[in-house]
Amino acid sequence: MKQRLEAEFSKIFGSGELPRVYFAGGRVNLIGEHIDYSGGRVFPCALALGTYVAIRKRQDGERIFRSLGVNDGWEKYPKAVLSAMEQAGYGFSGGFEILVAGNLPLGSGLSSSASLEVAIAYALSDTFDLGISNKEIALLCQRAENEFVGVNCGIMDQFAAAMGKEGCAIYLDTASLDYEHVPLELSEHEILIFDTKKPRKLSESKYNERRSECEYALKALQSQLDIGALCELTMDELNKNSHLIDNATCLKRARHAVSENQRVKKAVEVLKEGDMEAFGRLMNESHVSLMEDYEVSCKELDTLCEILWKQDGVLGARMTGAGFGGCAVALVERSRAEEITALTLKEYRSIIGHEGACCRGVGGAPKRI
Ligand code: GLA
Repeated sequence: MKQRLEAEFSKIFGSGELPRVYFAGGRVNLIGEHIDYSGGRVFPCALALGTYVAIRKRQDGERIFRSLGVNDGWEKYPKAVLSAMEQAGYGFSGGFEILVAGNLPLGSGLSSSASLEVAIAYALSDTFDLGISNKEIALLCQRAENEFVGVNCGIMDQFAAAMGKEGCAIYLDTASLDYEHVPLELSEHEILIFDTKKPRKLSESKYNERRSECEYALKALQSQLDIGALCELTMDELNKNSHLIDNATCLKRARHAVSENQRVKKAVEVLKEGDMEAFGRLMNESHVSLMEDYEVSCKELDTLCEILWKQDGVLGARMTGAGFGGCAVALVERSRAEEITALTLKEYRSIIGHEGACCRGVGGAPKRI
């Protein structure tokens, strides 16, 4: 990819000094879904697939963005990052030319936008010696998305892309931003990602709706309880106070947030003990909660999970990301990964009527290459 990018770069911008090339990955969330805006813990992992950015300074002060085969509308992301950086007081001495390329399936819910934002911020920070820490890059990119792109996302995706580490998932407390890199010692297991290939049309409006439902539940609880976020509660505490939430839907949303947060804590515990079966069961429970209490799954995601759940060698499977399409993530026995992939895609096609896809490769860290 580096050589291709360098060659295309000189075709577009002219030869001369070679550009610097940077990478940031997409992410797959292993468990902890839809709780990064309710003060919960999440457990994402950066991917080896992501976005590449080639950059070279210009003397004339111009700022030029080009891309190789990225969707229309992609430019709003680098521009948003630039605005967020400037708003935070980072200036650029002179201009630059940037060429972007990526190998993540677009629109598949693996955070191609967060990986693009982080790759841009990382490339700019390093090229202009701004010395911005990776954690700050995550926050800047989230702000770029919230304030300049206009998507009300939480911190998880940008944090995963900016703070990824080879061979590790990130156990992140979204209330305090404390985090821990947890080694994914998978040995005879493997993580597979299955793409529904369903366009995620509803995801933005429904995402905002879920956020407001959680805010409603939180406000109702705050009438009696001294809490700042839903995930501060245990399941017992929520059950004891459920009468405070007068809306059945919002109560279900709160139940998902609180139960999911407990599952994440448990999942990291069992992973550290090497109990992969228990980790897989928690993934399954997470999916059911997202399907029934949070209602962000869809026929395609449920179908993938059901096909996976019934197969030998599958320890767990769940939807990952915002939902309403996008991907499912599965933990499987490595020796059976090929047959599981083939059977899952075959059955998916016969039930849903169109192809799905599978990708793998967890553990990318942002880097200059
Ligand atoms: C999207 C958002 C994240 C997170 C997930 C759901 O990916 O960008 O902040 O809320 O959905 O877990």
